[in-house]
Formats: sequence, C-alpha cells, structure tokens
Amino acid sequence: MKRACVIGWPVAHSRSPLIHNYWLKKYGIAGAYTKEALRPEAIAGFLKSLDAHGFVGCNVTVPHKEAAFAAADVKEDSALAVSAANTLWLDGGKLHAANTDTYGFMTHLGLSAPGWNTHKGPVAILGAGGAARAIIFGFLEAGVEEIRVFNRTRARAEALALQFGPRIKVGDWAERAGASRDACVLVNTTSIGMGGQGTLNIDFEHFDPACVVSDIVYVPLETELLARAQTRGLRTVDGLGMLLHQAVPGFEKWFGVRPEVTEELRNLLVADIAGG
Ligand code: ATR
Repeated sequence: MKRACVIGWPVAHSRSPLIHNYWLKKYGIAGAYTKEALRPEAIAGFLKSLDAHGFVGCNVTVPHKEAAFAAADVKEDSALAVSAANTLWLDGGKLHAANTDTYGFMTHLGLSAPGWNTHKGPVAILGAGGAARAIIFGFLEAGVEEIRVFNRTRARAEALALQFGPRIKVGDWAERAGASRDACVLVNTTSIGMGGQGTLNIDFEHFDPACVVSDIVYVPLETELLARAQTRGLRTVDGLGMLLHQAVPGFEKWFGVRPEVTEELRNLLVADIAGG
C-alpha cells in the first residue's frame, strides 16, 4: 500500500488529508494519506529516510517549505523559482521537489475567470512572501508584461524585483488601490482577511470593470476583499480552488492517477471550513 503525508508544525489545521483521502476513495486506490507533525529540527532526518518511514512522498506546509527545498536532490523549476517546495516524491531513490502553488493558482484562475488577460493590463500583487513568489512566477510564465508588487515592507517587494527582473515594478503599500485601477488581475497574497485579521481597505471605485479580484485566503471563503469587489460588479476568484488544484500533481506522482477537482470535493471542503 502506498502512503503519503503532509508534514508541518503545527499540522493539525491542514485540510490536505481531506482532499487526498477523498481521491483515494473515489479512485478505489489502496493508499493512505496522513498528517505528520514534525519539529523543524526533525525535518532533514525525516526526509532522508522518507522511504524507511514507509512514504512515497509528502506535502509540506509551514514552516518547512524552505527546508524541504534544501533537502531535495532534484528540484523542478517551480520550486527553484520560489526556493521552497510543497510537494516531494521519491523517484529512482532520489527526492524530487516541486512547488505546485503556481500550478494551483493559475489553473484555478483560468477556470474561474476565463479570459482574465484579455485586456492586457498589468497584474497587481499585494504581499511579497512565498505565496507571492509562486504567483508572480505563474504570471511571468503566462506572459504578463508588467506585475506591480505592493508590500507593507517595501524592501521585500524590491527583493522580488531583483529576483524576477524588469517586468516587476514595486509600488508603495499606500498606493495599492490607486495604482491598481488599470490592472487585469489583483491578487491578495497577504494573510490579511484571514479569520478577521485586519482589512486591505480597497473599495474598487474607479477600477477597470474587467479587473478580476483574487484572494488566496480561504478562511473565510468570501473575504472582505472579494465581497467589496463583487459589490462593484467585478469578477472574483476565491482561495479554495488554489488549495484544491495544487494537490493534483502530488496525488498523481504518488498514486499514479491524475485526480479531478470536482464540485463534490469542493463542497466537502466548504462544509469543513464552515464547521471551523
Ligand atoms: P507566505 O509565505 O504565506 O506568503 P509570509 O512570507 O509570512 O507568508 O508573507 C506574509 C505576507 O503578508 C507579507 O507580504 C506580509 O507583509 P510584510 O512583508 O510587510 O511582513 C503580509 N502581511 C501580513 N500581515 C500584514 C498586515 N497586517 N499588513 C500588511 N501586510 C501584512
């Protein structure tokens, strides 16, 4: 029986087991997917002996994504771009690493807001952490010519501009609304809006009516940012789809079936979120 897991510290909050166990059941695969709580000092040793622990691979959540990246023998471009990995698998005795957040975000955006890039405007990104890096990489690969990054700590946004090159433009945090009005997509990658923590305070007045507003926060499912965008008639993309789609490549690597993100699976997660 093939086994995979999610490693984190803490890891109790992870919804990955809900997703992967749904797929294992749906496809009739005799496999298992569990949560493994691992302290930072235990990561390197655990990953070296993943096989001995009985795992074919794992997902990685905070705070271990950088350590997982460092531990891998083979790193996909998606992981190299972000210097962090959320998906690991063994192949030919080597530990492979990918960052599937880029795939998850871009796939969900394409499915939920088809034609998001039709008007060729810039993309606006709020935040400059690991999630911002994964998403910026996706937009660059998709051919977006200008990506404006706004972060409370400006130096972190400038570091991203250095890493990703001249298509990245850094703006002041205070300018996040005014300088995003012509954007084709605005994405919140900060933790603001999660469980009622703070407000981004953007009311979307004077925004291009074709602007798509996306939030990677999915608790609550409808964040204040998304609610405000809808009030102005803008298309919105929630954070749950990114979580669901980022899980697809890992499941395929471990269990050999490319799984489908279904409405039933989404509803399972929605119910879990609503239940706290
Ligand atoms: P992740 O890897 O999940 O993106 P992170 O690296 O901790 O997480 O980044 C969190 C992001 O949320 C950062 O851009 C952070 O801004 P700073 O770089 O200034 O810390 C942003 N963030 C978190 N709380 C915020 C707040 N109250 N106001 C503005 N930005 C905030």
